[in-house]
Amino acid sequence: MAEELKVSVSAGKAEKYRELLPQLEALVSDETDLIANLANVAAALKQTFDFFWVGFYIVKENQLVLGPFQGPIACTRIDFGKGVCGTAWKEKRTILVPDVDEFPGHIACSSLSRSEIVVPAFRQGEVALVMDVDSDRLNDFDETDKAGLEQIIRLLEGKL
Ligand code: SME
Repeated sequence: MAEELKVSVSAGKAEKYRELLPQLEALVSDETDLIANLANVAAALKQTFDFFWVGFYIVKENQLVLGPFQGPIACTRIDFGKGVCGTAWKEKRTILVPDVDEFPGHIACSSLSRSEIVVPAFRQGEVALVMDVDSDRLNDFDETDKAGLEQIIRLLEGKL
């Protein structure tokens, strides 16, 4: 496993996702423990993109429970259908929120969060966890992030 990430500092976002993916693949390939893999993926994303908050909520019984993350402390439990995370769980799809103030029921773990993207991971057709990324800037995520983060989630699904 590579001990160091190598992503071109001057590269655009799409290129960074392209460079990161095989390195994440290598990073998780020899490890079967889910928490260890989620922790490293959160750290790699923080390191590469300097996201304000990036982490995971894991489905446990009827709630999402906070998993490995990088960033300020966050809410520990989210109900099905609540907030952006609970909505991505309920609707089984990626949700991109350009302005969190415009999303009914958004859960403000940090008042600094302005835009957000949540990507669900599936095990046997059911959501097993979600990846949540927050920005302190409005409209900070686009289709490139959606495609890049979904590829990373597909990678993690292989480890569920
Ligand atoms: N904003 C999320 C809650 C999680 S925090 O952003 C880390 C939501 O509305 O589900």
